[in-house]
Amino acid sequence: MDQSAARDRIEALRALIQEQDYRYYVLDEPVWSDAEYDRHFRELERLESAFPEWVSPDSPTQRVGGGVRSDFQPVRHDDPLLSLEKVVEEPEFVAFDRRVHERLGRAQADPIHYVGEPKYDGLAVSLLYVDGLFARAATRGDGWTGEEVTANVRTIRSIPLRIRGRAWPRRLEVRGEVYLPKAAFRSLNEAIEKEGGRPFVNSRNAAAGSLRQVDPRVTRARPLAFFAYGVGRPAEPGLPECHSDLLKRLREWGFPVTQEYRRLAGVEPCLVYFRALLERRQELPFEADGAVFKVDRVSEQELLGSVARAPRWAIAYKFPSEAVTTVVEAIEFQVGRTGTLTPVARVRPVFAGGARIVHATLHNMDEIARKDIRVGDTVSLRRAGDVIPEIVGVLGEPDAARPPPVDGPRSCPVCGAPVERIPGASAIRCTGGLHCPAQRKESLRHFASRPALDIQGLGEKLIGQLVDQGLVETPADLYQLDVTRLAALERMGRQSAANLVAAIESSKQTTLPRFLYALGIRDVGQVTARTLAESLGSLEALMETREEELCAIEGIGPVIGHEIQIFFRDPGNRHVIDRLRSAGVQWPAIRQTTGTAPRPFEGTRFVLTGKLASVTREEAEAFLREAGGQIGQSVTRKTSYVIAGENPGQKLADARRLGVPEVGEAELLAWMAEARARKA
Ligand code: IVH
Repeated sequence: MDQSAARDRIEALRALIQEQDYRYYVLDEPVWSDAEYDRHFRELERLESAFPEWVSPDSPTQRVGGGVRSDFQPVRHDDPLLSLEKVVEEPEFVAFDRRVHERLGRAQADPIHYVGEPKYDGLAVSLLYVDGLFARAATRGDGWTGEEVTANVRTIRSIPLRIRGRAWPRRLEVRGEVYLPKAAFRSLNEAIEKEGGRPFVNSRNAAAGSLRQVDPRVTRARPLAFFAYGVGRPAEPGLPECHSDLLKRLREWGFPVTQEYRRLAGVEPCLVYFRALLERRQELPFEADGAVFKVDRVSEQELLGSVARAPRWAIAYKFPSEAVTTVVEAIEFQVGRTGTLTPVARVRPVFAGGARIVHATLHNMDEIARKDIRVGDTVSLRRAGDVIPEIVGVLGEPDAARPPPVDGPRSCPVCGAPVERIPGASAIRCTGGLHCPAQRKESLRHFASRPALDIQGLGEKLIGQLVDQGLVETPADLYQLDVTRLAALERMGRQSAANLVAAIESSKQTTLPRFLYALGIRDVGQVTARTLAESLGSLEALMETREEELCAIEGIGPVIGHEIQIFFRDPGNRHVIDRLRSAGVQWPAIRQTTGTAPRPFEGTRFVLTGKLASVTREEAEAFLREAGGQIGQSVTRKTSYVIAGENPGQKLADARRLGVPEVGEAELLAWMAEARARKA
């Protein structure tokens, strides 16, 4: 075959196979038999290896990721991937619809159009297409920064490598859920069990575990699937005005979109949709844990905007969690990272929501007393939310011969240190600090966790061994471990030891928000860590900032300010930080992590006062921060501008007294419009 005949045949085969993939995965109406598909595929492989100059990146043969690996590098999302507000009861959903009406200034009698979709139980990914070609895939991560998983996502056959049809934007970010179909989940677990491995507890973990494989060939062997449910914005113009049309368009462009979505006129049809979906939950070929309702009109979505991490135009209405019956065998106390003792019921094993349950949380002593739960009781148990099972209450008539209620321990069950009651709360706490092996283990677990330094393979069991054998006391000790020492641990081969050392090594490249979060300062969660990092810019600045100044940062209250101060005053903590840094733990300067967007307000300090009419406080602050500005709580000589809305308070008076310039809402809106125009 000559060059040009080969090229023609390669192109024809490629188009035929792509068409089949589309029919199979998107339209769900395959035409070829498996044998026919394989025959064409092999012919294409043969021709491409004979004429490698005609291999193209969107060829169906290029899904194997031949040697290319996802490197899990951080990817900053231009438009953050938000999460969804959740409701579990009908009245809450009705209240959501009422709020949407109010915010849009629509009469309650005038129904809002929504789109109902299943809430898939997988993991969110963002797929970037440039000039119609698949260019990059990233996980959601914390919403702002995810991980690059391009090579692995390439192996998912229902994800097109080239957008079909016409009129797609030159740059398109498709968002959706990667999941493992129920049947694939069952066979994967059977295969794992046959080989003596530990099966995945649910299909979401299986999907996440499969997507985050270092070797894309492993991902390829797991039949992951994808549903598109949206696009990143601001996208280039030309996208439909309604979410329902967008879903239709995405399907035409070759993306799998569920057959289950419906356009619904008003709240009542939404409730009917929800009930019907719940009824059919078992029959669906994928796992769903609720329905998602989205305001259909994009212009209305824009008017509604979002608060903190969730849009105001969409809501997740979760299916009720399954309740099961079991018996309390014992009540034990678990010591958390900061010493809090949580009562936990050990129960007779039961299955709920696809997981085997042996423990359930009892929250705190007051909760046990309120529900009057005692050893031997038959109880109703539920998986609240997604993870921690909870005891709903005692079933049946209480037995006269029940044992007395449990008492909170006087001393820590792990280290024996005295227990204190946390003032103003119903919790109790071990006073052993990091001398308590349980607290030590928990803080190491926190340090190594996904949103912190993300040390893969360093799980609970291994941390237990490392602490119990005295190999590790603080996170800094992790960076002194070597293969020989690790390989000497029970159930640890040389290869696993080497993998762990490599994982520890790669955790050294981190970000300041992750590092701050990893330190485990009381009350400093991921959001606070990010706020601190972005408003102060460096670890040194944070360590030097006084408590009062910390409290002046929006989102940092006096309690957190105080905890931060206590943490950094402790010489032990400072020593651990020094050792971590000299071991090579480092992060890019924070300016880099916030992207390359222009920051016209770098170094500018704002104070807001009064009520803004067309934007929320959160939106205004988010905009100012993104543009490099800092937000203060009180007006000082260092304040650059005071932004005054309606009924401004004392702050405006202070500004006038100190000669700080005033800015009104109109000017703020003009800045925001200008920034939007620059972005678009
Ligand atoms: S829309 C702004 N649609 O739910 C809209 N999300 O809590 C945000 N999810 O991480 C996403 N099914 O992975 C949307 N039909 C659906 C969904 C869905 C599942 C997940 C998504 C996200 C989480 C939000």
